[in-house]
Amino acid sequence: MHSCEATRLVLAIDSAIKQFWPTCRSAQSDFQASTFGSDIPLIDSDKVTGHTQGEPIGLVIIEVSQERLLSMEIIIQENYTAISQQAAALIADAVRSRPTTVLGLATGSTPLGLYQELIRLHQEDGLDFSQVTTFNLDEYVGLAADHPQSYHYFMHDNLFRHINVPAANIHIPDGTTGDARAFCESYEQLIASSGGIDLQVLGIGSDGHIAFNEPGSSLDSRTRVETLAKQTIEDNARFFASADAVPIHAITMGVGTILDARKIILLANGANKAPAVAAAAEGPVSSICTASALQNHPDTIFFLDPEAASQLQKTNG
Ligand code: PGA
Repeated sequence: MHSCEATRLVLAIDSAIKQFWPTCRSAQSDFQASTFGSDIPLIDSDKVTGHTQGEPIGLVIIEVSQERLLSMEIIIQENYTAISQQAAALIADAVRSRPTTVLGLATGSTPLGLYQELIRLHQEDGLDFSQVTTFNLDEYVGLAADHPQSYHYFMHDNLFRHINVPAANIHIPDGTTGDARAFCESYEQLIASSGGIDLQVLGIGSDGHIAFNEPGSSLDSRTRVETLAKQTIEDNARFFASADAVPIHAITMGVGTILDARKIILLANGANKAPAVAAAAEGPVSSICTASALQNHPDTIFFLDPEAASQLQKTNG
């Protein structure tokens, strides 16, 4: 197919779907996948972006690059509870269909609702995590596992003590390691020897970071020690006695480590995340906003509330 024809076809599909099938959230991506398969059309521009209306509020952004078909799906739900429940349902489906699923997990305020829903699904519906393996994104350097602000403590308190992931299957970076370089290498090896991460959960920082990959981090980066940005320290000061008490370093999975996950879901809620979400989904792929690297991942879904989505330009909802 000629490149211009492909471009026109993509736009025509978008228009037709909006006209005749306004409630179908993923029709365009399904159509493109079934139409083009791995035979990706060349196009003149770097990318073509379309969108469709979803349920109850939603859209799909499809990008066609010169190398391959990329898709980032953006689902906008009415509130935080809805995005938490939808993300939890996706994880539950993954665990039910593959009990040995390897999950990548995040900390922060954002995934709390998701974790509460996973706990409910475990306790009320018998969702079984007994064969699941988990890898957390990051940990503050210098905080021991029993420190109330450590991510070890957070994960135990908010998820692990309520569900049945075996302790041996839980992996969180060690913020007190004496040899961070060796630890980071071994963390990467452990992820690889576990078969890689099937499903990675992410939040997003107000500076566009994913995990603690602050602006300027290489988009190829691997697990390492990172210096926290001033904005992140200010954002996270709410959990500590003061900003001065926030550790300035963290061990974090790299952007490259995250992009190796087979599927990625990013959750964001609240107006303070709107600029970062817009930069991640619609800005240039750049280390200035490390979440923008997700545009180069073949299977990423953003779950957003309307406030977090409010600066997206390409929505039609
Ligand atoms: P938050 O943090 O969920 O506490 O807003 C998100 C992040 O920094 O990745």
